[in-house]
Amino acid sequence: MSKSINVAIIGTGVVGSAFINQLKNIQSKSIAYNVILISRSSKALISQDYRPIDLTSWSDIVKSSSSPSLSNGELLSFLEKSPLPTVLVDNTSDANLASFYPTLIKHGISIATPNKKAFSSDLETWNEIFANSSSPNGGLVYHEATVGAGLPIIGTVRDMIETGDKIEKIEGIFSGTLSYIFNEFSTVVPNDTKFSEIVSIAKDLGYTEPDPRDDLNGLDVARKVTILARLAGFDVESPTSFPVQSLIPKPLESIESTSEFMQKLPSYDDDMKALKEEVEREKKVLRFVGKIDMDKKIVSVGVEKYDQSHPFASLKGSANVISIKTTRYSDPLIIQGAGAGAEVTAAGVLADTIKIAQRIAK
Ligand SMILES: NC(=O)c1ccc[n+]([C@@H]2O[C@H](COP(=O)([O-])OP(=O)(O)OC[C@H]3O[C@@H](n4cnc5c(N)ncnc54)[C@H](OP(=O)(O)O)[C@@H]3O)[C@@H](O)[C@H]2O)c1
Repeated sequence: MSKSINVAIIGTGVVGSAFINQLKNIQSKSIAYNVILISRSSKALISQDYRPIDLTSWSDIVKSSSSPSLSNGELLSFLEKSPLPTVLVDNTSDANLASFYPTLIKHGISIATPNKKAFSSDLETWNEIFANSSSPNGGLVYHEATVGAGLPIIGTVRDMIETGDKIEKIEGIFSGTLSYIFNEFSTVVPNDTKFSEIVSIAKDLGYTEPDPRDDLNGLDVARKVTILARLAGFDVESPTSFPVQSLIPKPLESIESTSEFMQKLPSYDDDMKALKEEVEREKKVLRFVGKIDMDKKIVSVGVEKYDQSHPFASLKGSANVISIKTTRYSDPLIIQGAGAGAEVTAAGVLADTIKIAQRIAK
């Protein structure tokens, strides 16, 4: 091996575990990836002398570790003293760690992450992250898996802009859960299934968050659209600064228990049924989409109608699809495929880690 990089991994859940297992198996002849920290919320495995942790049975060793996880300040001081360039891989959805990215980057720590929080909260954090990253000793930031999991969306939009193309419109189905729900509910060949029935099936299949309202409120899509709009050059203030349609009936928003919500949802099927019948008469389908119009400076998230011949109408399962219209791609570029899942998401994060390593390993 001619070069090495130190890797600190935070989060060992669905994506984090898949990431570590993929990292263990990569066959790089040119760069050694030395893992120096693996942390979950309460405990951590820390290589105090910065020697690589043996990943053979990492899960058992982390489980039996008696070291508590590090505070943000402790993490910075540990990573700053690393004798090699360091990449922090944040596989959590933690807002506190995300708010610390600007400081980490300022101190030369690079970041690869699927965590949307830092990139989709206030515009100030976004600006600080990228300003610090482009300062002379700033760390690099790659976050491909924050939109569409492993699908090549962020890198593609960045490349288009850096090569002088101009984004005109972005439109997409960015939630695997809402993709599944609408692909089953509103089909080209009409069906009688009720909206609440599909939500219930999606929940049973594990496609939704434990409380499906966390998908139905549209906020996850709004966060992804915020990231894409900012990348395209539209300074969206926050994911709540533009219209986001929630699919949660108003009276059910404040109900505490998920089971009571699920039990009452069928009473509100009529509105969605009427909409579904309307689009069936128009030979269209319903899809839950995020839209960015760069000329009109409009961003929105909600249910839209599409012709049966439109690429969004033939979507299957929980796939994501994105259509990017630019000056060069006047016939829009379409990217489609699995937009969630441990393996594809982890691969997106690992590809980012490798890109960082290729630029900074010593
Ligand atoms: N799953 C997907 O298909 C998918 C797709 C695209 C993007 N993502 C994104 O990927 C990230 C991880 O998702 P996931 O599905 O893997 O979540 P998950 O299974 O819930 O795992 C989260 C992990 O983060 C750890 N964690 C949380 N807060 C922490 C903290 N302050 N310090 C250290 N560790 C902390 C948890 O620790 P404990 O183990 O101690 O609880 C857990 O190991 C999220 O940002 C998610 O939005 C996921």
